[in-house]
Amino acid sequence: MLLFREKIPADWLPKVMADLPAVLVDHAHLERKAATSALNLEKYRDLYPRVEELNAIAIEELQHFKLVLDLLKSRGIPFAQPYPSPWIAGLMKSVRNGQRGQAIDHLICCSLIEGRSCEKFQILAAELKTADPELAKFDGGLVESEGNHYATYLLMARGIDEAETNRRLDFYLELDAKLMREPNPLPMLH
Ligand SMILES: [Fe+2]
Ligand SMILES: [Fe+2]
Repeated sequence: MLLFREKIPADWLPKVMADLPAVLVDHAHLERKAATSALNLEKYRDLYPRVEELNAIAIEELQHFKLVLDLLKSRGIPFAQPYPSPWIAGLMKSVRNGQRGQAIDHLICCSLIEGRSCEKFQILAAELKTADPELAKFDGGLVESEGNHYATYLLMARGIDEAETNRRLDFYLELDAKLMREPNPLPMLH
């Protein structure tokens, strides 16, 4: 179902496994930003009719945020400063200005972020099964929800303009592939 053209780099998994507390803090920020993004999408005229669905996503992401914060607390890991993600920044930098194009690009970026999260939680859940069953279960429990967000955002963009969405999706999948190949040594999800 995920349309990505580039595999997650081979060094990503060992890198995050080597510093799971830092990855959990990064994960907390990712859920916080996901809630914010859902609310930010409500500013586009083309998405006014979808305001309730977007609110539901924002609430769901805030619940995820709370769950990660609970996990941090139970493990004695302090909530700390986020690392900026060069991959997310690289995608967002290409969002065009102007109502309709901007809404479509923004939705596609959000969709790809959700899709990559879905993919990575799945990989982490499998890898952590014996090393950290609690975290494995937690990450595995998010796969379906983030996968749904990926699909919902893509459908919302196609609902605005299908041909334009497919054209921009092609651009963004290429951009994602290019950015994925750039090294990032930090212990973070994206
Ligand atoms: Fe989430
Ligand atoms: Fe999500």
